[in-house]
Amino acid sequence: MNVTNRTFTMIKPDATSAGHTGAILDKIIKAGFRIVAMKYTRLTPEEAGRFYAIHRERPFYNDLIKYMSSGNIVAAILEKDNAVDDFRKLIGATDPAKAEPGTIRNLFAKSIDANAVHGSDSNENAAIEGAFFFSALEMH
Ligand code: CMP
Repeated sequence: MNVTNRTFTMIKPDATSAGHTGAILDKIIKAGFRIVAMKYTRLTPEEAGRFYAIHRERPFYNDLIKYMSSGNIVAAILEKDNAVDDFRKLIGATDPAKAEPGTIRNLFAKSIDANAVHGSDSNENAAIEGAFFFSALEMH
């Protein structure tokens, strides 16, 4: 399978702790994504810092790291034609106040940090982010 048909997601601590994991996975599956690999886990601050290193210089970096290491997450690699763009449409804008009605962030997110889900912004980052959580043997 061509890697450009894959994206990476995390269901964030606000959504797992509010009991939205099942509803979010249901929307992802019904939108036509195949779950290639999935893990229920928790990030240490050091791991969250490495995952989001690309945002190191941004003013929200420290809050983001603190938040993303505050509870359980679900990490998953998803497959579908046009996966990166289609998944970003399914989740809606980063700021849930701007997310289209019916999108995952519109339905489940609380704030710009506690925004329910992460979705990769490019094919290149999807591959990097997936490899952060899963070995090649787990990506079939
Ligand atoms: P995510 O897609 O996981 O990627 C980086 C995260 O930083 C983003 O979702 C938001 O949860 C968080 N964030 C906080 N403030 C901002 C901001 N001003 N712009 C973009 N992302 C932000």
